[in-house]
Amino acid sequence: MYRIIITIALIILAMPMFAETAIGSPCDVIPVPQQVEMGKGVYTWPEPDAFFHIKNGNGPLASYLKSLNNMTATDNQRKADISITITGDADAAQNESYSLTIKPDKIHIKAASETGAFYAIQSLQQMTRCGTVKRLQCCTVTDAPRFAYRGLHFDVSRHFRPKEFLLKQIDAMALLKFNNIHLHLTDAAGWRLQIDRYPLLTSLAAWRPYKRWEDWWNGDRSYCTQDDPRAYGGYYTKEDIREIIEYARARHINVVPEIEMPGHSEEVLAAYPELSCSGEPYRNGDFCIGNEETFTFLENVLSEVIDLFPSQYIHIGGDEATKEGWKTCPKCKQRMEQEGLADVDELQSYMIHRIEQFVQSKGRTVVGFDEIMQGGLAPGAVVMSWRGAEPGLEAMRQGNPAIMNPNAYYYLDYTQDAPFKEPVSIGGYTPLEKVYSFEPLPDSIPGDVAGNLLGVQANVWCEYITDDSHAEYMYYPRAFAVAETAWSQPEQKNYPDFRRRALNLVTQLRSMGYNTFDLANEYGDRKESTRPLKHLARGCKVIYNLPYSRQYPAAGDSALTDGVCGGWTYGDNRWQGTMRDMDVTIDLGSIKPVHYVGATFLQSVGAWVYMPRRVDIYLSDDGENFTLAGQAWCDVPDTSAEIRYKVYSTLCDASARYVRLHAVKYPKRGSWLFTDEIVIN
Ligand code: ACM
Repeated sequence: MYRIIITIALIILAMPMFAETAIGSPCDVIPVPQQVEMGKGVYTWPEPDAFFHIKNGNGPLASYLKSLNNMTATDNQRKADISITITGDADAAQNESYSLTIKPDKIHIKAASETGAFYAIQSLQQMTRCGTVKRLQCCTVTDAPRFAYRGLHFDVSRHFRPKEFLLKQIDAMALLKFNNIHLHLTDAAGWRLQIDRYPLLTSLAAWRPYKRWEDWWNGDRSYCTQDDPRAYGGYYTKEDIREIIEYARARHINVVPEIEMPGHSEEVLAAYPELSCSGEPYRNGDFCIGNEETFTFLENVLSEVIDLFPSQYIHIGGDEATKEGWKTCPKCKQRMEQEGLADVDELQSYMIHRIEQFVQSKGRTVVGFDEIMQGGLAPGAVVMSWRGAEPGLEAMRQGNPAIMNPNAYYYLDYTQDAPFKEPVSIGGYTPLEKVYSFEPLPDSIPGDVAGNLLGVQANVWCEYITDDSHAEYMYYPRAFAVAETAWSQPEQKNYPDFRRRALNLVTQLRSMGYNTFDLANEYGDRKESTRPLKHLARGCKVIYNLPYSRQYPAAGDSALTDGVCGGWTYGDNRWQGTMRDMDVTIDLGSIKPVHYVGATFLQSVGAWVYMPRRVDIYLSDDGENFTLAGQAWCDVPDTSAEIRYKVYSTLCDASARYVRLHAVKYPKRGSWLFTDEIVIN
């Protein structure tokens, strides 16, 4: 007993010592630096502050360093604890590189530009846990990024986020060496940017009478004025934007504005219906391309955007236009005739080309989601590849620059752990390891094509993310993984080591007031999906009475009896999907005793995936005459976006060679039905 008490007392006594004796190491930094050489000895941070001196710096670095709580400026280079030299002799490729040398008596930073020096400071910030660790391992770090574009995207349309939220995320981005913040400023759910020439964009299109996006989307999708007591929304004034840009600039982050076109524009067309094909509010989501006024509007808006944002990149969305109204609109048809455009894809391409030329005439570069390739890609346009990496690779082959943000890896609005323990999401599953595993450049891509890859970006769409703290939770720690892919060389990546560092950084961000996912308590994959399932029908032939969708075949004809169960998302190539009923017959090869027949289905309402209404199970000896063995009914509500899994099964005491399952689909047009395995025992 005494021994236990003494041991506990010793542990308690030793705890503060541990904190004081913790030694910050370059081996803990995310993204992992290019080269680290360990030195001898330990540097102890002076109390209360370290003096820094910058030689040849003429940018915002000095005032940024003064804003940190553990540094003070000095004019005396010899007296400085941290001596920073900006050599200024870099070509563009070295602009962000740095070396950081920690000796027992002094820290030296050398960089071609203030940007490089800024990144050296970020490595130092991580090593000191933002000033809380006082002792640092002596070392030399030589570092430079892999990619020039390292981005995070913020959907401030679905839910307006206050300026302070963005400033806080910019700080975290800086710590991770991101250099582009992409603001999705406009979408159906609300316009978020002051445009002087079109005041209705912020007096009407920025407000809706519903807080929750689902209520608005499933309701009347209306807008209201700011003085309406129900008004929910907001927008950034030009002054707000200037402040965000300046804050980001001091952290070497560029702010990329996005103005959506030609689709996702319901809010504009409610305020200015003359720009739609019908000429009426609440009828269309796409701009009318036949109407010259559309181009006048877009060019006027873009002119104000370009005046406000110094960003080289101007994002014009370009995704998911329905193109429906264009097919019957006389003005669009006339435009197609006049311009010799074969179809609505070419009509979209005509518009993107025109806007690209306009943006280029102002000395800027257009970025668009990969749909801007439809009907012909505008020269010079940057393609943001979200529907997988292939569209981006194709753009690169055509000589255009690309940024990769494939949804299956880089959509951080997808759930990051088991859906039953996570907040409701739009669907999908992008846990940390999956995000980390993405490699944007396959070996098959030749060097000259690979040079067209600007970098990578993760997106967080906010349909189901109402609160700021929930939004924050979706970024961290997954943004760490994106940062490491963006900055570090692929051969340096190592998931177990990254996870160790991520756990540390999660603790650090939490202590700084960020709401992060609790990585230490990650649940992981759906257990059923982690090992092959043995059952009577495994390997048996499946006869499809109705075909599965070619979009979601999983393993094809053998998918439902291959013993492979799906993971948390229907999109993992292990769930088989159909937009019809599922009707299959399994041939067991000979008549066998059958006691159990069951199949798991998945519901993810945000992705239009629903449980079947009913599953009928039939047995037969000859494959022609079937008798009903059992039925299972849906008891899962279709109103919640919560992701659900349900086994539809029946017990029986029979024998049969053929087992038929007929799953009756949810009646909504365009909805999906997914199952992973039919289990017979
Ligand atoms: C997108 O997710 N529609 C770019």
